[in-house]
Amino acid sequence: MTAVATPVLMQGIGEADLRNIDVYRERGGYKQLARAFCEMTPASVLDLAKASGLRGRGGAGFPTGSKWGFLPSNDHPRYMVCNCDEAEPGTFKDRMLLEEAPHLVLEGILIGAYGIGCKHAFIYIRGEFKRGYEIMRRVVEEARAAGFIGKNLFGTGNDLEFTIHRGAGAYICGEETALLNSLEGKRGEPRLKPPFPAVEGLYKMPTVVNNVETLAYLVPILERGAQWFSAVGTDKSKGYKIVSVSGHVKKPGNYEVPMGTPVRDLIELAGGVREGRKVVAVQPGGGSSACIFEEHLDLGYDYESMQKAGSMLGSGAMVVFDDTTDFVRAAHSLVRFFAHESCGQCTPCREGGHWLEQTLERLVHGRGLPSDVDILKKASRQMTGLNLCALGDSIEPFLASVISRFPEQFEARVASPREVAASV
Ligand SMILES: Cc1cc2nc3c(=O)[nH]c(=O)nc-3n(C[C@H](O)[C@H](O)[C@H](O)COP(=O)(O)O)c2cc1C
Ligand code: SF4
Repeated sequence: MTAVATPVLMQGIGEADLRNIDVYRERGGYKQLARAFCEMTPASVLDLAKASGLRGRGGAGFPTGSKWGFLPSNDHPRYMVCNCDEAEPGTFKDRMLLEEAPHLVLEGILIGAYGIGCKHAFIYIRGEFKRGYEIMRRVVEEARAAGFIGKNLFGTGNDLEFTIHRGAGAYICGEETALLNSLEGKRGEPRLKPPFPAVEGLYKMPTVVNNVETLAYLVPILERGAQWFSAVGTDKSKGYKIVSVSGHVKKPGNYEVPMGTPVRDLIELAGGVREGRKVVAVQPGGGSSACIFEEHLDLGYDYESMQKAGSMLGSGAMVVFDDTTDFVRAAHSLVRFFAHESCGQCTPCREGGHWLEQTLERLVHGRGLPSDVDILKKASRQMTGLNLCALGDSIEPFLASVISRFPEQFEARVASPREVAASV
């Protein structure tokens, strides 16, 4: 069977200029926002999010409605923050939504904000997304002029303000508490949790941080119902997912599919690998995920199946490796990224990343020491689970998976004692 994409959030992208508010409205845009404000209570929006089974698309896959439910019931101001920092290696879906369907993103954020009873919502946009930032500024002005942001929305007496914040290009600011610090004008460093943002978030007030894709799905869920969404996918991974497929495929890009679509079909959607080549590994959930291999290609792309295969779905970035891959270089490039992006608060992450990078650097140049492969395995294991945030745990999964699958590639880069002596 030939795999087909099922555009929901991606519907109309490439066909119409969805950046234009008139075009967006002609296609039904902002009707769900009006419905939420005029016909629904915040509690019923929350119930709908829960009933749909929507899980966060930013990485952890936490159920969205349950997360909103953690907000304490007090009369403090509460904030909705949309996380558009997207810097996970291999992930490029939020950027596409920001640039190609910005009104959908905004409508989703405003609906989510209403659902948690918030009067001021934010979007935190990655510093490098200059084009997306400028598009969102225009879009917000248009939405304000149309009466979708500001005071007494739809004559209901409800106010909702909106602020765009542009980051400065640090991967760690995608971590929700680092993002909140950055939004407050502080250094973008993760906070100790608990307290979690739901209890003490932006300006120490109850806050929800949700991913762009998560919030955008609220629009079709409101339009078509929780049942429509939850009927698609698997038992625990409901609905649709935009997957960024890249690496050794002929048509890298974003593909929206039902959760549980076989990994093999996603590779096929992306054009398959080059003639005469075969897939030897797939990193299914962004730079922090372990590789899965040929024997896993018929598994469904969903949270549980990826976990069972020893990896994770993460933010939905699938990197495909064919049989020409140099996994020593691939590991070096990824470890260099994580080492560079460490904020430096935790010793294992700050020091470990650089040691591993240097060790891999030796191997890349064929100057590895006999102990290096063992050091890579042990040191990456030892730095895991000892850090404030998940970045410090991001190196081990990929590294350990490719060393155990392709040990010969790493061992072949160990130099003989004579070569080592000659290179000193
Ligand atoms: C190092 C690091 C980087 C992250 N980057 C992002 C990001 O760019 N976008 C995102 O939505 N979530 C990112 N997350 C996850 C967020 O902390 C948070 O869980 C997410 O925004 C919650 O949204 P969701 O519930 O809709 O998935 C990152 C987490 C870590 C540890
Ligand atoms: S794990 Fe790394 S990035 Fe995260 S807080 Fe610690 S030092 Fe910073």
